[in-house]
Amino acid sequence: MEMNKKIQEKFAALFGEGGATYAASGRINLIGEHTDYNGGYVFPGAIDKGILARIKPNGTDKVRLFSVDYNERSEFGLAEQDKPSQAWACYVFGVCRETLKRGGKVAGFDAVFAGDVPLGAGLSSSAALESVFAFAINEMNGNGLDKFELAKIGQSTEHNYCGVKCGIMDQFASCFGKAGSLIRLNCKTLEYKYFPFNPKGYRLLLIDSCVKHELASSAYNKRRASCENAAAAIRKNHPEVEFLSDAKRVWLDEVRDNIPEEDFLRAEYVIGEVQRVLDVCDALERDDYETVGEMMYQTHFGLSRLYEVSCDELDFLNKLARRMDVTGSRVMGGGFGGCTINLVKNELYDDFVKAAREQFTARFGHEPKFYDVVVSDGARKLPANA
Ligand code: GLA
Repeated sequence: MEMNKKIQEKFAALFGEGGATYAASGRINLIGEHTDYNGGYVFPGAIDKGILARIKPNGTDKVRLFSVDYNERSEFGLAEQDKPSQAWACYVFGVCRETLKRGGKVAGFDAVFAGDVPLGAGLSSSAALESVFAFAINEMNGNGLDKFELAKIGQSTEHNYCGVKCGIMDQFASCFGKAGSLIRLNCKTLEYKYFPFNPKGYRLLLIDSCVKHELASSAYNKRRASCENAAAAIRKNHPEVEFLSDAKRVWLDEVRDNIPEEDFLRAEYVIGEVQRVLDVCDALERDDYETVGEMMYQTHFGLSRLYEVSCDELDFLNKLARRMDVTGSRVMGGGFGGCTINLVKNELYDDFVKAAREQFTARFGHEPKFYDVVVSDGARKLPANA
């Protein structure tokens, strides 16, 4: 385990002996995009790419960090005014602060960490970073917070220290992930169910457009505000609507003239997407992957035309998938760049990869990246001898 060795050596060099190693993962999401902050369903799983951190209490009230990937140090105290200057360190700082706000203890510690989640690919490297520290701090200090609290610590870190008003999906997947299973989560009630995912005859493939849009977080927050605006308009007629996911499609039509067209289109997408997650779960129980795939294409259409979080590169990959009879394909995660997730028949896999590489490169002048998905465990402490 290459990455583990690297952090152990660096830890020994910077901070000396001892410490324990913790891991947390990035995530995929089969379907249910931009539904989490609308109280709807999501269907994610943790992946075999994540963050490893070696950590040890240092007997002070300071945190000393080293990021292997940025090759940078950061040191900060634990009071609100001690926010570090490096963006990457703010994630760890936020996790410390949010743990304290929940009554947890946070003793000073030293840590070295490294990751292999591609940045900006929509695979939630930030959730992996938050979860690994939320989990480790909870264990080291004997705080006894449950996994939902740990996920919420990560989510509040995004809200309060990183400027993204995200939902709970990424941190949930990173904390609750289980090898071989996807998890359907109802983001309103927080009920969840594991679905073993091993489609016979198909593979899940991620294609990374390697496009990252700078303004993604403000565009994301704007989408959320549109949904809240639409939900508030519907609530005037139907007080039972707490979240947009509670609304029926016809209720949205009733308020069409009262809200901006843009908000209407965003809400139209979300209401459709909530239903698609349930349809996909039913289809999976029948091993009906054609329906799963068709729903993925519908999601892509909605994300591209109604929610407007796709881009030329992702639409290109999606169209190519359709042309080649790939079973399902769609932009995954928050959007504005990143990956498509594709459900591909085994016999088509090699041809699709080859065509995507050649045609994407010819059109955009850079190669996309390809990742095979392995659904894996979430946040955990590694055994001492790992
Ligand atoms: C990002 C957010 C999640 C979720 C997705 C879109 O990954 O962090 O909370 O909203 O976008 O489904």
